[in-house]
Amino acid sequence: MPDTWEALEHDCKNCRECSLWETRTNVVFGVGNQNAEVLFIGEGPGANEDAQGVPFVGRAGHLLDDMLEIIGLKRDDVYIANIVKCRPPENRDPAPEEVAACLDYLREQTRILAPKIIVCLGRISAMRIIDPGFKVTKQHGQWVEKGGIHMMGTFHPAALLRNPGNKPGALEDFLGLREKIRQLCPEVYEL
Ligand code: URA
Repeated sequence: MPDTWEALEHDCKNCRECSLWETRTNVVFGVGNQNAEVLFIGEGPGANEDAQGVPFVGRAGHLLDDMLEIIGLKRDDVYIANIVKCRPPENRDPAPEEVAACLDYLREQTRILAPKIIVCLGRISAMRIIDPGFKVTKQHGQWVEKGGIHMMGTFHPAALLRNPGNKPGALEDFLGLREKIRQLCPEVYEL
């Protein structure tokens, strides 16, 4: 793996490590601030993201933007990436071999960004990053520390669109995130 952000992005955008390259329109590397202290990790691109090459640009993305705004953040204050960078056809869950083939890009993004905080959006992300047995309904909003990074899993915004009854819980999680940022990296709010 290359050790600069630009080289990593270049390699990722030309990746053919799994078969998803055959059906993708764009690789969705990530978006946001390369000096971010907070990294959001979703699952993988959907149709809109594949078309535009940018994560979370559909309805779920608008909801994510709204949640960020509620706690006083913009996309430019954080970084947003996914477990897999290419769209799984028909929006199916990424297959284990696709995740395995892609994960080094996220590892390198995380190493270079060196965030203080990671927020996993949804089960697929939280199972991969926090706990293989992660149950979103039970464990959302609970903070753990791994390798010096504070992390928490919350509801995926697309799941919130399907199941709005979980929105108050998600809001609590974002308020918890605001507290964590205030403790660990108050400068984020002074940008
Ligand atoms: N869902 C995700 O998990 N990631 C995106 O980028 C878009 C929708």
